[in-house]
This record gives sequence, C-alpha cells and structure tokens, in this order.
Amino acid sequence: MNRRTFLASSIAMAFGLSSCGGSSTNNNDGGENPPNSDKFSKPLRIPEEYTGRIVADQTVYDLNLQTGTTKFLDNLDTPTWGVNGSYLGPTLRLKNGSKVKINYTNNLGEDTTMHGHGMHVPAKMDGGTHQVIADGTTWTSSYTVNQHACTNWYHPHLMGKTAEHVMNGLAGLIILDDDKSEALDLPKRYGVDDIPLVIQDRSFNADGSFNYNPSRREIMQGWKGDTFMVNGVINPYIDVEAKQIRFRILNGSNSRIYTFAFESGRAFKQIATDNSFLESPVALTELVLSPAERAEFVVDFTQDMGTSEIFKDKASGNDLFKVNINKTAQQTTQVPTSLVSLDKLNPQDSVNTRSFSLEGRQGRLTINGASMQMDVINETVPLNAIEIWEVTNKMGMDHNFHIHATHFQLLERNGNAGAVSDNEKGYKDTVYIPPNQSVKFIVQMTDYKDSTGPYMYHCHILEHEDAGMMGQFIVI
Ligand code: C2O
Ligand code: CU
Ligand code: CU
Repeated sequence: MNRRTFLASSIAMAFGLSSCGGSSTNNNDGGENPPNSDKFSKPLRIPEEYTGRIVADQTVYDLNLQTGTTKFLDNLDTPTWGVNGSYLGPTLRLKNGSKVKINYTNNLGEDTTMHGHGMHVPAKMDGGTHQVIADGTTWTSSYTVNQHACTNWYHPHLMGKTAEHVMNGLAGLIILDDDKSEALDLPKRYGVDDIPLVIQDRSFNADGSFNYNPSRREIMQGWKGDTFMVNGVINPYIDVEAKQIRFRILNGSNSRIYTFAFESGRAFKQIATDNSFLESPVALTELVLSPAERAEFVVDFTQDMGTSEIFKDKASGNDLFKVNINKTAQQTTQVPTSLVSLDKLNPQDSVNTRSFSLEGRQGRLTINGASMQMDVINETVPLNAIEIWEVTNKMGMDHNFHIHATHFQLLERNGNAGAVSDNEKGYKDTVYIPPNQSVKFIVQMTDYKDSTGPYMYHCHILEHEDAGMMGQFIVI
C-alpha cells in the first residue's frame, strides 16, 4: 500500500513540476527527479516501521542487537552496531493498553542493556543499568503499555558504557499511539507525511571508522562530532507532498544541543513534547533540544509545490537535511487548534521537595555530591506521592536531567514560572538546564512499586552519565 501510494505520487510529482513550474529556492535542483546535484545527494532513510506479531494476547517484537558495517561515506565502510540492521533500529509501534513483549537478543560480542526511554513500565522491565543482557542471550521486556501517545526511544544503558554503545549505533524510536492520537486530524502516514528524524553527530577516521575517543576535557565539555546525520544519513534529502508534514525529532546525539530551524525562518507548530501532545500547537521558528529530548512539529508546505527548504542546526550553523516539496498531496490534514487536555499536578498537593545539585570536581561528575554506584539507592519515593524536584546546574557547562519511570511537568526555570516556555508545557522526561541555571518540576510515581528494582535519574549528556552524573531511586 505504501509502495503504491509512493508510485502514484511520483507520477503526480512529475506532473506537478512541469505544470506548476514552481521556482525552487535552490539553484541546484534542476528539473529532474530526486537526484540533487548539491550536497544533499542521498535520500533520507526511513527506519522500518515495526508493528510486531500477535501471539495470543500479546504483541511480540524481536530485536537483534548486531554488529555490521554501514556506508555513510562514499567509498568507505564504517564498523557499526545496529538493531535488526547495521545501524540504528526499526521504529517500534505500540498502542496504549496493549500487552507487549520485546525480545532483545544480544549478538554484539559484549554485554549491553536496552532501555525504553520515556516508557512508563515496572523497574525490572526498564532496561536500565541492572538488566544486563549478556552477550549471546535474550532479555525480554514485557508490560502493558500504559501512557499517552508520544515518541519515545530505546537505547543501551550499560554502566559506564552508554555513550560508546549509543555512538556505535544502537538506538531506535518507539512510537506510541492511543485513541486520541488516532482521532486527531494530524499527518499519520509513516515516512510519507509523518516523518521520524534521529539527529546525531559523529566524527570519522581516515579509514571510515567512527572517531570516538573523548579526552577528559571533551567528556566534561560534552563530546561533539563534526559530521551530522539524520537517520544515519549525512545531508539527506526527502521528497514530500505539498501539504502539512509532521516531523518527530529525536536529539539522538551524545552531547550536542541543537537549535533546529528552517533556513528561510519558516514557522512551524510544535504539537508534542517528550511524553505527550501539547494542549495546543505552539508556533515556533526555532526549537532547542538537548540530548534525548523529543519534539513533534508540523510544518505547512501546502503552498510550496516545486520549492525546497533546508533544515538546519542554528547553534552550529550546520545544514541537516533538505525537504523537496515536489509531490501532489494525496490527503489533506488540518492541525486542530486544540489537541488534548492534560491532567496537571497541583504544586499545592506536593508532599515533598527534593533537591538535586549537578556538580563536578576533579573530573568526577556528581549529583548531590555522589557519583552513580550500582549498589546505592539515592532516593526512595513513595508510590503516588506528588513531589516537587528542583534540579540545579551548579556548573558553567550544559547539563540536562532525565528521570526514568514516568514523566514530569515543568513548573519553573530559575525560580520563575513565566520562564517555562509554552512548548515545554507538555509531559516531559528530559529537561535542558543551561549553565548555572535551575529547573523545578512536579512529578508523581504511579502504578509500579518495587523495593529492590531501582530506576535511574541522570544527565543525558552520555559522557556525563558515564562519568557518574547519575543516581538511583526506588518507588515503594
Ligand atoms: Cu535515555 Cu536513563 O536514559
Ligand atoms: Cu530513560
Ligand atoms: Cu551533564
């Protein structure tokens, strides 16, 4: 069905180009089919959409963690890791309320773990540092999906090795659907008008292998690559229909903080944060995401047939990918002005405030003075208690803060409720904290308690996490 749609629109595209003769914003486009003579010469790769197989009352996903080689550069092979492929992994599609069973089989030649980032699941199904998948074995995460529609992701979480394992290529998206998301008039054709984007930075050695050997200074400052990839492709292009297009974007980089924008300054509407839709779309021209944060946004190309747009990172000045609006719309969508109504926790109901201080000394990174230790539980949180957590970045460098188990709602930045921007007002699980700033959020651990199975909280700059900026909590 997808292929048929694709063929039909390719034909329509040829027609659209010749009849409308739209002027391209880019001189190098020529009138021909996709091949661009500019640097955007490779098509965007769309990770396979994996809906699983039904076995009795469960949806089962089989994921093979494997080694391989990937061609990012023209004439060189890069040794990489991937899931059911050589680099990155399929997009798991999960429906709220369904029982799922995700089998991770480790064929990497060394141990790892696989964490469902953003998933509201029991601690022992979380895939954090404790659920080690020994080389040659299978670990199964099974649970009933129990959260709002959103875009989550899976990635390794092995103690001290997360940065390296993610750098090698282990990561994939998890798209959650619910009745509400299915009913909203949003672009929903995966890879056609609902497009996943995993943004990463890498560096290469002359032989094509990844150059990843962070110095102590790079670990502290955050390791940054000089080459940008989208879904594992350097400077790709994507051909889209002249209509509203939805992008689901993951900052899949280890450390880099992006300021995403279209080159023309075109506005787009953010519709979702890490763990939920926003109540209403928020119009933006720039979007800042720190590592592991996600956003969904819709951009309206209805009037733009025959033109192109470049999507870039304004923070570094680098181009990321090019969108060619060259296909006739096969469908129209009209993003609603109101998306969902979110249950909000009331600060007056908070029974406890916890403070977390992100610090570092002598190359060690700490939270409240302690570095992560596998056998230390740093915090004990009562089930269902509403709490306020304040996180302060005491350093002159970037950090962010992520908690497992559930989402939170931002209340303040730097003591100021007004400083929380509208596009941060959905449910989140990761929040950016610029140098010497603080955030305050409200959170409630619901549904799952386990006095022996901890969850983690940590800075999601992966080099920082591995250098100790992580702690553990249990819910009792
Ligand atoms: Cu993205 Cu502790 O995780
Ligand atoms: Cu996580
Ligand atoms: Cu950090």
